Order: sequence, then C-alpha cells, then structure tokens
Amino acid sequence: MLKEKARIAVLVSGGGTNLQAILDAQESGIITSGEVVLVISNNKDAYALTRAAKANIKGLYISKKELKTQAAFEAALVNAMEDYEIDLIVLAGFMSILSEGFTSRFTRRIINVHPALIPSFCGKGYYGLKVHEAALAKGVKVTGATVHFVNEIPDGGEIIAQKAVEVLDGDTPQALQRRVMEQAEWIILPQAVEKISKEICS
Ligand code: GAR
Repeated sequence: MLKEKARIAVLVSGGGTNLQAILDAQESGIITSGEVVLVISNNKDAYALTRAAKANIKGLYISKKELKTQAAFEAALVNAMEDYEIDLIVLAGFMSILSEGFTSRFTRRIINVHPALIPSFCGKGYYGLKVHEAALAKGVKVTGATVHFVNEIPDGGEIIAQKAVEVLDGDTPQALQRRVMEQAEWIILPQAVEKISKEICS
C-alpha cells in the first residue's frame, strides 16, 4: 500500500530530548516521509509528555505498575497502536523491555536508539547513565550511539545506523551522555526515522 507519510508513535520515559530531535527534524524538513502522531510514556511525570503537548501531539500515559502485568501493559500498547494506525514505533529513551509477544507483532517496525556502539555496553541493565558509567569504567576512548531494529533480544536487532563520539579526559557520565546525545543520537535517530519511514511508504 502506498502511503504519503508513515504514522509514527514515539515511546518515552524521561526528558524526551530524542523525541524533541525528531520533532525538530520534522520542522526542518529532515523528516518528510513520516509524522509523529502519538507519544506514549510509561512515566506520568516524563517531560517528554510536555514536549508532545507543546507540539500538539497526542500523549498517552500507559503504566505497567497500574496494569499489573507485562501482558496487560503490552496489550494496552497494541490497542494504542491500532487506534492510531501506527506504522512505525520509535523507542526514544523508553526504559522498559518489550517481550517477544510484542516485538514479533511489529517486525522491522520498531526502532530504538541506544547510547553506545552496539555490541559494546548494551543489553539488559545497560540504559541511560549506566551505559556511560560502564564506558568510562572500561576506559574506552571512543563510544557513540546506535539505532537498531528491535527484536526479542535487548539491543540485539539489526543495526540501522551508528556514529562514534570521542571520550575526553576527565569526562563524567553526565558530560559523556550529553556529548553522545549532541554528536550522535540527535543526528542519527531522525535520519533513521526518515530512512525507515521512506521504506514503509514505498
Ligand atoms: C538517551 O541517551 C537514550 O539513548 C537512552 O536514554 C536517554 C534518554 O534521553 N536510552 C537507553 O538507554 C535505552 N536503552 P531522552 O529522554 O532525553 O531522549
């Protein structure tokens, strides 16, 4: 089916700077083949929901805690994807692992940004600042970010894009996180969103 634009849902848990990078890329014309129509947070206080509201995009809070089980949580996510006729799901700082039951429903239709060069510092337990703490503890001189398809293996799906970032002497996890966002994540995530959206529409 030929579509003009892929309908995108962005799943978030926190500050939402990667969501913002996607919204800015829509504004500036880097993303033309897709449109964010839904933002879902598993954290009701996520600033990402405020960013969605400011951009006039529907925001939903879906809570695993309130729904009690992973199955109920994922069923609510699936319902939202169906209600909003979502073509592409973007995990942008979404701090919850999705089961095979969910990921297999959306094969090559879920992408994630990870703040390291996979296969380094990835998989269960590696998220947010912990990734940068581990990179600094190991003493790597280069790190970066990866955008990949999401399958049943945490951070294990096919790689779509990567960008390297230098680690500097005296870096703190926070400083490194910021540099990886600025020099890698906010660039390659919007580019990957455009690439996959274009493929969906063609
Ligand atoms: C980003 O660095 C993202 O790569 C990371 O969390 C941060 C979210 O920031 N995601 C993971 O670690 C997922 N495994 P944001 O809310 O400002 O986009």
